[in-house]
Amino acid sequence: TDISIIGVPIDLGADRRGVDMGPSAIRCAGIEQKLEQLGYIVHDLGDLAVRRPAARPEPGERLKYVDELVRVNGKLADKTAEELEKGRFPLILGGDHSIAIGSIKGVQRHVPRLGVLWFDAHCDANTADTTPSGNIHGMSLAVSLGYGSRRLLGVGGGGKRDPIRPEDVVIIGARSIDPGEKALLRELGVRVYTMHDIDRRGMDQVMEEALYRLSSADGVHLSFDLDGLDPNDAPGVGTPVIGGVSYRESHLAMEMLAESGKLVSAEFVEVNPVLDYRNKTAHTAVELIGSVFGEQIM
Ligand code: ARG
Ligand code: MN
Ligand code: MN
Ligand code: MN
Repeated sequence: TDISIIGVPIDLGADRRGVDMGPSAIRCAGIEQKLEQLGYIVHDLGDLAVRRPAARPEPGERLKYVDELVRVNGKLADKTAEELEKGRFPLILGGDHSIAIGSIKGVQRHVPRLGVLWFDAHCDANTADTTPSGNIHGMSLAVSLGYGSRRLLGVGGGGKRDPIRPEDVVIIGARSIDPGEKALLRELGVRVYTMHDIDRRGMDQVMEEALYRLSSADGVHLSFDLDGLDPNDAPGVGTPVIGGVSYRESHLAMEMLAESGKLVSAEFVEVNPVLDYRNKTAHTAVELIGSVFGEQIM
């Protein structure tokens, strides 16, 4: 299959500015060459247009920049669905993690029962009622599961689509979970593989079990937040959390995902070149993308 790169240069879902430069940073790190070396035909569709809002959010706002985020995510859903329609693999470059709202909605138009592998230090399962920050990048998984404000649930013609089933979601790498989202994930029975699980059982066993769970779905979407990695390996992220997944563990996870043959779409989000060292985090993203698309050491 051909690969379509879709950049979404938006940082309005996060508090720290700079992840809007993520698509450029990942392109600079050589994503196209990497994929071409692996034998793929790559169509770089450029970036979606993002408007710069004139006004800052009011203090205490619980859905910061919701208007522009809803608009851009609607466009992303359409673009993602359109590429799948052409038989191409959508590879989406963020941008903050709120873009998973649009990408997943788009993929769902083509994959009736979609599984989601959510690689992240966080669970992004807050709603406007539980959010400690008002930042929509902390709400995207909840929205995909059918929880959250009506505006966000309506992205990409929300009402017409069933939400992702809780049993078709796995989270890997979690180590910072707010009380409200913990309660929601527990209630729904979403399987969260925390750093504790990875420490105890190893990434190999964790991924094997995670992929087994996802095998009932018709296809899998990878939502990869670079802050799932340890900040030593991925310093260029807006919300770093100490004690994360190592460089090799993350590669093993992506290699096993590639072997599963279930992947239909992917996004790499939260790369913040402003906070990075010599574009290290974007380079790591490119290496991980290589593994996702079948690169092997030998
Ligand atoms: N849980 C926190 C919040 O809701 C942080 C979320 C960070 N999310 C991310 N995609 N980096 O604000
Ligand atoms: Mn995230
Ligand atoms: Mn995160
Ligand atoms: Mn490599």
